[in-house]
Amino acid sequence: MATTERPLLSAKLAQFGTTIFAQMSELALRTGAINLGQGFPDTDGPPEIIEAAVEALRGGQNQYAPGPGIPALREAIAAHQRRFYRLDPDPDGEVLVTTGATEAVAAALLGLCDPGDEIITFEPYYDSYAACIALAGATRRPITLRPPGYSVDPDAFAAAFTARTRAVLLNSPHNPTGKVFTRQELELIAAHCRERGVLAICDEVYEHLVFDGRDHVPLATLPGMAERTLTISSAGKTFSFTGWKIGWATGPRALVAAVQTAKQFLTFTSGAPLQPAIAYALGLPDAYFESFRAGMQAKRDRLCAGLEAAGLDVFRPDGTYFVTADIRPLGEQDGHAFCLRLPERAGVVAVPTVVFYDDKEVGRPLIRFAFCKRDEIIDEAAARLARLHG
Ligand SMILES: Cc1ncc(COP(=O)(O)O)c(C=O)c1O
Repeated sequence: MATTERPLLSAKLAQFGTTIFAQMSELALRTGAINLGQGFPDTDGPPEIIEAAVEALRGGQNQYAPGPGIPALREAIAAHQRRFYRLDPDPDGEVLVTTGATEAVAAALLGLCDPGDEIITFEPYYDSYAACIALAGATRRPITLRPPGYSVDPDAFAAAFTARTRAVLLNSPHNPTGKVFTRQELELIAAHCRERGVLAICDEVYEHLVFDGRDHVPLATLPGMAERTLTISSAGKTFSFTGWKIGWATGPRALVAAVQTAKQFLTFTSGAPLQPAIAYALGLPDAYFESFRAGMQAKRDRLCAGLEAAGLDVFRPDGTYFVTADIRPLGEQDGHAFCLRLPERAGVVAVPTVVFYDDKEVGRPLIRFAFCKRDEIIDEAAARLARLHG
C-alpha cells in the first residue's frame, strides 16, 4: 500500500479521526469504569415495542423495505407531527425514513449542498455535523454558545450569514449542552432564514426530553418556516432503542426529495422489521411520552446533585440526557486531559466538550455526562466522583 506518499484517508476527512464516543466507550470497557460518556440508556425501551419487532421478524418482514420507508411508519410519523406540533406532512413524499437521524443529517447535507456552500451551526456541535458538512464539500460557520446560559449572540449570528449560506443546521434540544433554544432565539433564526432565503435543517432527536414543563417548539412551526425547514428526528432516544437506528426527515416535498436522492445511494433502506415496531411506538398514548420525560428529568436532578456535591460547576440542562460541567472548581483546566485520566482516578467516563468546539478556549474546561442510566449507576458514579476532592 505504501506506493505513494498520499495518505489513505481522503483530505475531506483528514481532520476527523475516531469519534470521541468510540474512544471513550473503549476506555470504559478497558478500565471497567462507569460509562457516562456515550448517550445511550442502560435499559431497554417498552417490551411491547420489542414484541412488535419480533412479530415482524417472524412474520416475514425481512427483505428490503421501500426506499422512503414502509407506509405504516410514514403514516405514524406524519400522525406524530400532527399530534404534537400540528404540522401536517403528507406521508407520501413529505416523510422519509432513514437509518437514524445520523443518516438523515448526512443525506440532507449531501443532497442540499454544493461545494463552497456554507452551513451555520451552533458550537459545541454534535460531531457528525462537521464531518458531514465536510463530506458535502461545504464549510461550517459555527456560532459559539458559552456557559452558563449557552445563549445565542444575535450579532454574531447575523454576521455569520454570507452570500454562500445554504442552511442553518439547528439542534434543539441541544447536544451536548442540554440547551433548549428559546422562542426568542428561534424567532431570530427564523427571521434570518426567511429574509435571506436560507434553508433550516433541524435535528430534534431529543424532542421528547424537554424538562420543567417547557414545550419543544419545532422551528418548522414558526411563521413562514414550514416551507423551508427539514425536520429530523429518530426513535432511538424517544423509545430507548438507540441501536435500532430508525430515523426520519419531514418537510416540503422538494426538500425531502433532495434528501432522498442522497439517501438512496447511502443505504437505500434499512431496518425493515424494526419499522413496523416504531410505527406502533409512535402511536403510544401521551402517558408514555409524559412518563419518559418525567423519569429522565428525575435522573437529570439526580446526576446534577451528585456532580454539584462532587464540586463541579454544573450547568443544569433544560433538555436532552446530557449535562455539562466546568472542572475549574476542582483546580483543573483541561477537560480533555481530565477525561482521559478520570477512569483511572475515579472509575467514571465523561466526554470532553472541547471536541465539539472550534473555539477550543471556550470548550477547554467543560465536560459532558449522560444521565440516561439506572439510578444506582448514577449514584455510584456520583459517589466515585465525590472522592476526587475528598
Ligand atoms: C444531536 C444528535 N443528533 C443525532 C444523533 C444520532 O441519532 P441516531 O442514533 O438516530 O442516528 C444523536 C445521538 O446521540 C444526537 O445527539
